Amino acid sequence: MKLQFSTSPISTASSDYIALPVFENASNEAFKDVLKDEAINNFLKNNPKFGKLYETQALFTKDKKYLLVGVGKKEEVNFGKLQNFAGTVAKSLLTKANSLSLLLPRLDSLNAEKVGEAVSIGIELASYNPAAEFKSEKEKVTLTSVQLVVEKAERGYQEGLKKGVILAESINSSRKLADLPANIMTPTYFLDEVKKVAKELKLKATVLAEAQAKRKGMGAFIAVAAGSDIPSYMIALEYLGNPRSKEKWAFVGKGVTFDSGGLYMKPAPHMNEMKYDMSGAANVLGTIRSIVRLGLKVNAVGIMAVTENMIHANAMKPGDIVKSYSGKTIEILHTDAEGRVILIDAVTYAQKDFKATKIVDMATLTGAMLVALSNVYTGVFPNKPEFGNQLTEAGKAVGENFWSMPMTSEFDEMIKGDFADIINTGKPDREAGSIVGAKFIEQGLTGDIPWMHLDIAGTAWDTKPKPFRFIGATGVGIKTLVELVC
Ligand code: BES
Ligand code: ZN
Ligand code: MN
Repeated sequence: MKLQFSTSPISTASSDYIALPVFENASNEAFKDVLKDEAINNFLKNNPKFGKLYETQALFTKDKKYLLVGVGKKEEVNFGKLQNFAGTVAKSLLTKANSLSLLLPRLDSLNAEKVGEAVSIGIELASYNPAAEFKSEKEKVTLTSVQLVVEKAERGYQEGLKKGVILAESINSSRKLADLPANIMTPTYFLDEVKKVAKELKLKATVLAEAQAKRKGMGAFIAVAAGSDIPSYMIALEYLGNPRSKEKWAFVGKGVTFDSGGLYMKPAPHMNEMKYDMSGAANVLGTIRSIVRLGLKVNAVGIMAVTENMIHANAMKPGDIVKSYSGKTIEILHTDAEGRVILIDAVTYAQKDFKATKIVDMATLTGAMLVALSNVYTGVFPNKPEFGNQLTEAGKAVGENFWSMPMTSEFDEMIKGDFADIINTGKPDREAGSIVGAKFIEQGLTGDIPWMHLDIAGTAWDTKPKPFRFIGATGVGIKTLVELVC
């Protein structure tokens, strides 16, 4: 998509469509020069309540096509809402126009750089449609150029746009990977994608195949990997953007390319959605990609634990006891609680082998997360509350919702085993399910390294389209982790 800022008055725009922002309960003085157009004037007079966020109305006059789009209450507009407003405009016109002039709302709450960033991300994310990949008959996308109309030129706009486009490209590549069905998106396919990124961005990739992971002592990861006929990989992708510093971020992702549940097979409804169970790993890859392409002066490693969770003669069985890379023994009480089993080894790997000083893991870990926070918030499970708060604040700045959950030691009891050090479910069954999952992963760490787990089970994909986003993977967390690192 060609995105360009313009200061020519919107009344002189010659694009196929002209999109105008309408505030709810505020004067819409920003487009006073087009208000001379009677059609718009009349519409706003007759619809004084128009302007709710995502509300749209097309208006055709003799020589112009307008799209009015609500931005909501002026005082409530923030980065996320502006992004989604721009996304709504783009998604509405993707197949209806070649060119578009979008008048940006006047805001006091965001500077030019933030406006450029939010708007470009919104438009780029709205343009990605997973159905375009496999449907034989598809609506032709015609929109190729957007003029972003502002009052006066400011350098920040351009800088924000540049950053936004880089972020959006990374987010969309991650979404694309997560949307691929499990017959294509196998661990081998994922590994090839990482290798491509490593080559393109000149990063060091370290790949442990199953035999190597086993030799290293990753008995937990191997327990899950054993149930799949396709090879599994523990992958690390490293970026040293500040070689003099000892600080190193690790982003650790759950990469279960399909989660059948194992011998405790999942019920049929929605099992197809378990192709998204590698979203954590895909979004870790997107985070590293963004950090490198933005040239951030930090050190970071992405650890992606990639495997299927299948039904197989060699699959892990309830009651099996395995030894994790941390040395702790695990009694597998539930074969469908596989995410934590691969992640416990992955976080140990980040700390032991890569000397990470801060660790964030991301995983579609528990159905209980959806029960607690639906698809509205991503749960944050930090071992230090301040670390969680930093992430939540970073999320607010870029329009992603995070909510910190308690991780105090009262919960440690719930994963104590009768036959091994820890169990991969909780006692009592089902209680505090998402916290128990986080508590289990925490057992892979030693000392007091800052760590947090993000449970993206509710937020990694949409099951219904949004006005600003097609159905499918969301790429959640990438923007926020980049903001946190900044
Ligand atoms: N991948 C699932 C979690 C999940 C479920 C994500 C629904 C998104 C939507 C995970 O591996 C799983 O099956 N978790 C179990 C854990 C339980 C057995 C302790 C769950 O949540 O039921
Ligand atoms: Zn899973
Ligand atoms: Mn599972």
